[in-house]
Amino acid sequence: MEAWSPFAAGRNDIFSNQTLADIGKQYNKSIAQVCLRWHYQRGIVAIPRSTQKAHMIENLDIFDFELSKSDIQTIAKLDLNITQFPEWE
Ligand SMILES: NC(=O)c1ccc[n+]([C@@H]2O[C@H](COP(=O)([O-])OP(=O)(O)OC[C@H]3O[C@@H](n4cnc5c(N)ncnc54)[C@H](OP(=O)(O)O)[C@@H]3O)[C@@H](O)[C@H]2O)c1
Repeated sequence: MEAWSPFAAGRNDIFSNQTLADIGKQYNKSIAQVCLRWHYQRGIVAIPRSTQKAHMIENLDIFDFELSKSDIQTIAKLDLNITQFPEWE
């Protein structure tokens, strides 16, 4: 499985989501890093896009922490069961 758009291209205010920010705070990691680690721990290939070198470096720095089972369950509850890309339906 491969993530089609691992940050949902920033839609639905993902980069200011309070739940993801709170989870990241526990590990001193950003929302982007929480997202990528979540994909990684679920065995999903994620290829994030970025135009910024700092973001690229940040996006590679996800291999020194592990989301807990409880974090994974909390993130699963964020699923709205609707696409963020209705134009592709
Ligand atoms: N979505 C599609 O239509 C589609 C189709 C086929 C293939 N793909 C492939 O899927 C991959 C990515 O998909 P995508 O471009 O739709 O979206 P995405 O990777 O989900 O999101 C890209 C957005 O995330 C931001 N971002 C990246 N790293 C960040 C960070 N650490 N902190 C904050 N913001 C960050 C980028 O902004 P900055 O540039 O400012 O970092 C950009 O606005 C690409 O390889 C693309 O080629 C996508």
